[in-house]
Amino acid sequence: MSYEVRPLTGVMGAEIVGVDLATLDDDSLSDVRRLMCEHEVVVFRDQSLTPRSQSEFSDRLGPSGEVPFVGTMSGFPNVIRVVKEADEGAAFNFGGAWHSDFSFQVEPPSFTVLAAVDLPPWGGDTVFASMTAAWAALGPQMRERLSALDAVHTARDAYSRRMQPLHSGMRGMSIVCDDSANDERVHPLVVVHPETGKEVLFYNRAYVRDIVGMDSEEAAELLDFLHAHTTDVRFQYRHRWRNGDVVVWDNRSTQHFAINDYAGFRRELHRTTVKGGVPSR
Ligand code: SIN
Repeated sequence: MSYEVRPLTGVMGAEIVGVDLATLDDDSLSDVRRLMCEHEVVVFRDQSLTPRSQSEFSDRLGPSGEVPFVGTMSGFPNVIRVVKEADEGAAFNFGGAWHSDFSFQVEPPSFTVLAAVDLPPWGGDTVFASMTAAWAALGPQMRERLSALDAVHTARDAYSRRMQPLHSGMRGMSIVCDDSANDERVHPLVVVHPETGKEVLFYNRAYVRDIVGMDSEEAAELLDFLHAHTTDVRFQYRHRWRNGDVVVWDNRSTQHFAINDYAGFRRELHRTTVKGGVPSR
């Protein structure tokens, strides 16, 4: 297979031209996987994945892990329909907070595959931030401080029972909040990416809610700093969706945010996640 790699910014993101994800041979798949790790977000245009072929492609990257809280598509236990109907207004959307998918799991996803199905005429972009670039931009003293810390990941501010009314407003999705959202999982704040060997800040605003062994005032100050630093515009790529787009991102080295600026229009994308390993330093 011959393909072209077109970087999308100086820090992250690349469009890969000349690839049909539904018919990729094994050699090309390993090239594409390497590019996903290297560029962190990769864009494939003009694809025609069905839920079945998306699921098959995703499975070739690795088994899907557990999909908590969010109902999956009938017959496809690893496919989530990310959908907001035209009449659902602008109050809430799925993914509309900086996060890395399911980082509160023991083995958070390595990759997410998101395929465009029905797009608004404008808006509904997805913004990504590179946690590799954010880490690299820190000074030596801050790096030394952060390297020694462990972060507490929890879904309590997204999926605990008190959040149910927000999710229930989305008719096209079935999201069931429960007490497991209050569980806490500790991961190192700075990890080594298992495929690139690069150091990465394994931080995201939605699920990293505390720092182990730090008093709450100091932790809140540090988390505010990390949020402001890691989502700085210097580390971002903003994806403007087109019909036929499939975007794959590396959850181990990015955060993302789905912009909710298309009230009055419908937006649907299909998402699969691939199980990763235990994050480690
Ligand atoms: C997600 O956060 O998984 C969905 C992103 C999007 O809808 O753009």
